[in-house]
Amino acid sequence: MKILIVGSGGREHALAWKLQQSPRTEKLYCAPGNGGTAGLAENVPIAVDDIPALVAFAKEQHIGLVVVGPELPLTLGLVDAMTAAGIPAFGPTGEAARLEGSKAFSKDFMARHGIPTAKYGIFNGVEPAKAFVRTFEGPWVVKADGLAAGKGVLICETQQEADAAIDHILAENAFGAAGAALVIEEYLEGEELSLMAFSDGKTVVPMMTAQDHKRIFDGDLGPNTGGMGAYAPAPVGTDELVAEVQRMVLQPVVKAMAAEGREFKGVLYAGLMITAKGPMVLEFNARFGDPETEVVLPMLKTDLVSTMMACIDGTLDQLPLEWHEGHCVTVVLAAHGYPGTVRKGDAIRGLDQAPGDVIVFHCGTTRKETESGALFQTNGGRVLSVTALGETLTLALQKAYAGVKVISFDGMQYRSDIAHRALNRS
Ligand SMILES: Nc1ncnc2c1ncn2[C@@H]1O[C@H](COP(=O)(O)OP(=O)(O)O)[C@@H](O)[C@H]1O
Ligand SMILES: [Mg+2]
Repeated sequence: MKILIVGSGGREHALAWKLQQSPRTEKLYCAPGNGGTAGLAENVPIAVDDIPALVAFAKEQHIGLVVVGPELPLTLGLVDAMTAAGIPAFGPTGEAARLEGSKAFSKDFMARHGIPTAKYGIFNGVEPAKAFVRTFEGPWVVKADGLAAGKGVLICETQQEADAAIDHILAENAFGAAGAALVIEEYLEGEELSLMAFSDGKTVVPMMTAQDHKRIFDGDLGPNTGGMGAYAPAPVGTDELVAEVQRMVLQPVVKAMAAEGREFKGVLYAGLMITAKGPMVLEFNARFGDPETEVVLPMLKTDLVSTMMACIDGTLDQLPLEWHEGHCVTVVLAAHGYPGTVRKGDAIRGLDQAPGDVIVFHCGTTRKETESGALFQTNGGRVLSVTALGETLTLALQKAYAGVKVISFDGMQYRSDIAHRALNRS
């Protein structure tokens, strides 16, 4: 069948890479795609939020499966629009995607259904929000309600910082409509874990666990980013812990979403804090994580087209999800200025010298054809996601960093301590 992938990041390149391996895949399109997806798919210049144009394209090309990468088109109802046009689309409806699209909705939903999460309050006025801060000990976590591209969460050590965060979001409108309301919650101590799961609306099947690295610098220092690297599996996510999250979080969420008339199909991503009292939900995402996808999909043995179709058809209970043995690591190479103002257009060198067992997923690149071959340039904050599999975590890391070594561009930044938490356990 013909498949349309919507999005343009490392996640979408990894999706294209995995979908390409399916015998059911005839042709891949990626809208708008990047310099990496150009090698596997036909890039189509349609923006991820142009719902009518995406539906028109899918109809015209007789697309048999639409795979939606990012959250924005999900919350805008792209899956609803495709479904209405008779085109199978993988992902939640706009109503179901509110689990990610509104942190206030998500927290109230968890409270209604007894899902473990930090205690919180929701506010749209400055004074009540500041008064709430004074009702418990810090640190305080202040979160813009809506989608804020990973920049809407402020961790505040002092009351003054919390007050400033509240002013920033509510009074100064730092996040526009996404900050019309905010959530204030208690700070949870522990190790973070990403657990993604496939859902067909009734059955929910966890994927392999992964751990992301949010801060820009080694040692988890510096500002937050979209993610500087990941590895799978994450040892903090033991089989017992995953079973507990399945029982306490994933199953009740899918059941309650259906009961509330917002059946959740697609990828349910639980961002967890593993605290001394057990796993607590930090947030839900309604799609594959980035860069977690770049380490989880290479570990997946099962055909991804069949898995996605089973989610759409409601037959996930009949599909065994199988995983490769071993470990996967990805190291993100970021552009000059990231996570602040990013420079674009730097030439990327050495891509063709990457060892054969390294998979270079492109996150923000462009590809130009020249007489001497394809020329790649930086085109975003996160540029490349250099990925390798290994029998052991150490081997996977060695291979991934061997790949990093041969690639370069001006202003390139990366972390040299990916998977440090896992390594420091043993
Ligand atoms: N209650 C909390 N306690 C401690 N850290 C938190 C809490 N909520 C969020 N964080 C930190 O902030 C990051 C971003 O928060 P999250 O809710 O995942 O929002 P988003 O991914 O939409 O920015 C988390 O990955 C975590 O590191
Ligand atoms: Mg998050």
